[in-house]
Amino acid sequence: MSPELARTVTELVHELRRPLGLLIDRGGRVEAVVLGTEQRRIYLPDIGRARAGLARLRGVRLVAAFPGGPIAQLPRDLLTDLQKLQLDAVAALGVDPAGLPGTLAWAQLLPRSDPSGERYRLHEEPSVHGLRLDFQEFVRALEDELTRETVDAREARSGAVRQDRAVLVGVYDTVRGEAEASMMELRELARSAGVTVVDVVMQFRRLVDPRTVLGRGKLEEVVLGALQHGADIIVFDRDLSPSQLNAITQETELKVLDRTMLILDIFAQRARTTDGKLQVELAQLKYSLPRLAQRQTGMSRLTGGIGGRGPGETRLEIDRRRAKDRVNRLEKQLEKVASQRTLRRSARRKEGLPVISIVGYTNAGKSTLLNALTQSDVFVANQLFATLDPVSRRLRFPHEREVIITDTVGFIRDLPADLVNAFKATLEELSEADLLLHVFDGADPDHDRHIKAVERVLEQLGVQERPRILVMNKVDQLEADVVTRQAAALGAVPVSALTRDGIPALLNAAAARLWTGQRTDEPVWEQVASPAAVVPAQPPGPPSHDELRRTWLEPPRPPAETPTRN
Ligand code: GTP
Repeated sequence: MSPELARTVTELVHELRRPLGLLIDRGGRVEAVVLGTEQRRIYLPDIGRARAGLARLRGVRLVAAFPGGPIAQLPRDLLTDLQKLQLDAVAALGVDPAGLPGTLAWAQLLPRSDPSGERYRLHEEPSVHGLRLDFQEFVRALEDELTRETVDAREARSGAVRQDRAVLVGVYDTVRGEAEASMMELRELARSAGVTVVDVVMQFRRLVDPRTVLGRGKLEEVVLGALQHGADIIVFDRDLSPSQLNAITQETELKVLDRTMLILDIFAQRARTTDGKLQVELAQLKYSLPRLAQRQTGMSRLTGGIGGRGPGETRLEIDRRRAKDRVNRLEKQLEKVASQRTLRRSARRKEGLPVISIVGYTNAGKSTLLNALTQSDVFVANQLFATLDPVSRRLRFPHEREVIITDTVGFIRDLPADLVNAFKATLEELSEADLLLHVFDGADPDHDRHIKAVERVLEQLGVQERPRILVMNKVDQLEADVVTRQAAALGAVPVSALTRDGIPALLNAAAARLWTGQRTDEPVWEQVASPAAVVPAQPPGPPSHDELRRTWLEPPRPPAETPTRN
C-alpha cells in the first residue's frame, strides 16, 4: 500500500468517523472498498472462492483503517477473518488526531508446523513507511510452505484410506449424563461413517439458539478450532432445520452435517441391495431438498459471505428441479421393487415356511447371530448399522422343519420419524414374521435404553404384538453370575453369537414358540421397567449338555403338521 493511498484512506476515516476496509489482491489492485459500521465492524462483499482449493491462501489481503487514535491491538474480527478465510494477511491502520496514518498492526497465518504452535503471527510497525517487506516474495514463500504441508499430509495419509476429519458439536438442554451418552453415540456413528473425530465440543444452554444452535461467539470458536485441527467437517449432535443449517454454513466453508445426515451417510455407504440403495438415496434427497442453501444477497459479513456456500440463484433452481425429478424417478423405481418384494414374500408364504426376524439395536450382534444360527456369512462388522438390508436365510430345524430367518436394519435411538418411514418398506418384513428375536448387547451398560428404543420402533411399525424372544447377546463378555441374574430379570435367553454358547437353547426356545402348544402371541418378556412381572422364556443360564440332548436333539413331540401362523 503506497503512503499516498494510506493517507487517502485515513483522511476519509477521520472525516467519516467510521472504519474503512480495502481488499487488495496480489497485484496490489484494490478489489473492494467497504465502509464499516459505527460499531467498528466491517462487513465485506462476497468475493467468491475461486482461488480456494487451488492454493492455500485466498489471494487477497484486508487492510482496514479505524478511527480513534493508534491501534492498541489488531481487532479480533480481523484475526478471525484471517484464519477462516485464509487471507494473505490482515492489517489495521491507526489514524492520528490529524487524520494521518498512524501505527500499523498486521498479522499473517503460520504453517501448522511452526514451533510457536500458533496459527498466526502478529507484527507491528510504527508507520506504513516503516514497513520494509517484499509482500510478493513473503506471500509466495508462505504459500509454498502451506502447500507443502498439505501435500505431505496427503502423502502421509495416502497409505491408509483418506479419512474425513470431523469436529463433533453438541448443544444440550438436558442433564450431563444424557448428553454424554448422546455424544458417545455420535462418536460411534462418526466412526461407522469412516470419519476421524479430531475434537468434541459440548455446550449446555437452557435455551438453544434458534438461529445458529450455538451462540454466535461459540460458533466462531468452533469454526476456528476446526480449522486448527485441520477438520473438514462439523457434525452437530442434533437435527438442524433448513434455516439453521443455512445460518451455520454462512459462518464457515467447512462441510456441516447434522445427525440425520450422518446416519443417512452411513446408510448410503452400507446399502447393498437395489432396494436399500434406492431407499437411502430417496431419503437423502428428501432430507436435503429443503436444505439446498439459499444464496445470500447483498453484503454479507466477510467471515460468512465469502465463497458463498450456495450455488447462484439459477443454479439453485436447476439443482432443485433435478433433485425433484430424481425423487419422482426413485419413487417409481421403488414401487416396482416393492411389488417384486411382495411377490417374493407371497412365494414364501406359499411354501408355508414360518419366518423368524432378528431385530435389535444397532451393533447388538444381529448379523453375527444370524451367522451363528445358519452358519452363513453375512457381513459382520463392529460398526453401527453394518446391516442395512434384510438378509434372508433358510434355517433347518430337526425333523425336516424349515424356517426363513431374516436379519433387519439396525435400530437406533432418535431415529427420526422420517427415517423410520423411509425404511418402513424394508421393515415391513417384520410384520410378516411369525417370531421376532429381539437381540440386545448384554455387555453394553446402556442395554435397557437400547431395548426400549427398539420396542418404540416396533410400536411405530405396529408390530409390537408379534411374538418375540428377547435374546441377551455377548454373554462371553460378562461374568456367569451377572449373566444369570440379568437374563432372569429381563426374561431373556442368554447367548454368545460369537462363541455360539447358548445357541442350541435359543433354537429350542424358538422351536417351542413356533411348533409346540405354547402360545405365540404372548411376549416372553413384558417390560424392562418391571422385571418382577417377567416370566423367563428359559431357565436362565446355558442348559447342561444332558438337558440339551434331551430337549434339542431328541424332542419328545412329533413335528406339527402345519406350522403355527398368525
Ligand atoms: P448393525 O448392522 O449395525 O445393526 O449391527 P448388528 O446388530 O448386525 O451387529 P454385528 O453382528 O455386526 O455385530 C457387531 C459387533 O459385535 C461385531 O464386532 C461382532 O463381532 C460383535 N459381536 C457380535 N456378537 C458377539 C458376541 O456374542 N460376543 C462378542 N464379544 N462380540 C460379539
